[in-house]
Amino acid sequence: MAGQPGFYVYILACENGAYYSGWTTDPARRLKTHNSGKGARYTRMNGPSRLVYLEKLPNRKSAMQREQQLKRMDHARKAALLAWNPVQPVREPEKTEKSSVFVPAERFSVIAPGRVNLLGEHVDYNDGIVLPAAIDREVRLEVTALAEPILKLNALDLGLSAEIPLEKLKAGKDTRGEPMPAFARYPAGVAWALQSIGLETRGLEATYRSTVPIGAGLSSSAAVEVAFALAWKYLGGWNLPDMDFVQLCQAAENHYVGVQSGLMDQFSSYFGVEGCALRFDTRSLDWRPVQLPADTRIVIADTGVRRTLSGSAYNERRADCEEAMRLLRAWLPEITALRDVTPEQLEARAQGLPERVLQRARHVVEEIARVEQAEKCLERGDTRQFGALMAASHASLRDQYEVSCPELDSMVALANRIPGCLGARLTGAGFGGCTVNLVESDKVEMFIEQLARDYHENVGIAPSIYLCRPAQGAHISM
Ligand code: GLA
Repeated sequence: MAGQPGFYVYILACENGAYYSGWTTDPARRLKTHNSGKGARYTRMNGPSRLVYLEKLPNRKSAMQREQQLKRMDHARKAALLAWNPVQPVREPEKTEKSSVFVPAERFSVIAPGRVNLLGEHVDYNDGIVLPAAIDREVRLEVTALAEPILKLNALDLGLSAEIPLEKLKAGKDTRGEPMPAFARYPAGVAWALQSIGLETRGLEATYRSTVPIGAGLSSSAAVEVAFALAWKYLGGWNLPDMDFVQLCQAAENHYVGVQSGLMDQFSSYFGVEGCALRFDTRSLDWRPVQLPADTRIVIADTGVRRTLSGSAYNERRADCEEAMRLLRAWLPEITALRDVTPEQLEARAQGLPERVLQRARHVVEEIARVEQAEKCLERGDTRQFGALMAASHASLRDQYEVSCPELDSMVALANRIPGCLGARLTGAGFGGCTVNLVESDKVEMFIEQLARDYHENVGIAPSIYLCRPAQGAHISM
């Protein structure tokens, strides 16, 4: 981000084909140092190098840890990593601070990606662990700073505009005193959340488009929230720890829009790492990028069915989890979230919970256990077992959490019959939207074609199915 140091790991391809990896805060300068023969003995011995891989990490510690991971990878694995990430342009470090006083540009763009979740559904508001990735579908804002405290919005995909006074957000009205249109509540909610802790939200006009389909379980709304928050951060020149920043975006959704969502979506849109999934512990807020097996690809399949009443159904699920907690505390007073309950403990208390509440809690505790197992599968490259966990997750979301729908179930069942499919499940909140599929790389094109054909024939809707590349998180672009 503008004016802030970054922490990166990089891979250089040397003239003789060897790879060299390291970490740095300044990729361009580091490359120069290597090519002047002063970077490392290895690069000096193996000839001039090209930067072929760059990944941004949140802090020094994770950059150093990631460097160790890269150093442990053999040549083939590094080559596979690069296949996920064809040469990224080496961006010069952003130099927006021309004088000691930071003056933001008056016109700039902000990009914030959507996300797909591989495993760990409906656990982020139960302190669980999730495995999402930011995706190469994004919201793009073209922002112009304004002198007056007004938020002018032009949502090109919706063909809607609105003007919101930034001074009276609580009232939920536009500048004419009419109730604010629904689409405006996301950016307005972000301004409201930032103001609530005294951060400046300058007037701005934003014209925006999104390639994240709306209401499809790919976090189009979190991408909008994160993009606007970043625009205000840039214009205001204020700083905030990154995790606090995404929590304010979540607060906008929880308290202004009125959906009691967890933190996964805003987290993923902001912290995304190219080519990697993110292992995010929503209790400790620790996270790290996770390499997916080199010979697999992520495919997103959009059923074309959109969620209805998803906000209220989502809040009901959350309320069921709270009810489970309230009842379970009678036996297990030390628990603070369903994360603390093992599947065995839950079964031992099953008699004491109403059937629906028991089913919801079962999904959560078993899903959290599945994510723990999935991490081990990834460590040993066991994609079959990872896929089996995805299948179990879908069945549980369908039968116990009851957030699936016939179209999602068909998309999953059809995918499972196609050669090369390792695992398929609904992704995101559910009630319609998309499935996520883990597919063997060499069969991915055939998989996409056949799934599109089978779904169209069986369900009567022509679906959008696409290969997804894990993407970088939100950023400013000049
Ligand atoms: C929505 C919410 C997330 C998460 C998922 C389900 O996307 O915004 O916080 O709860 O549903 O896993």
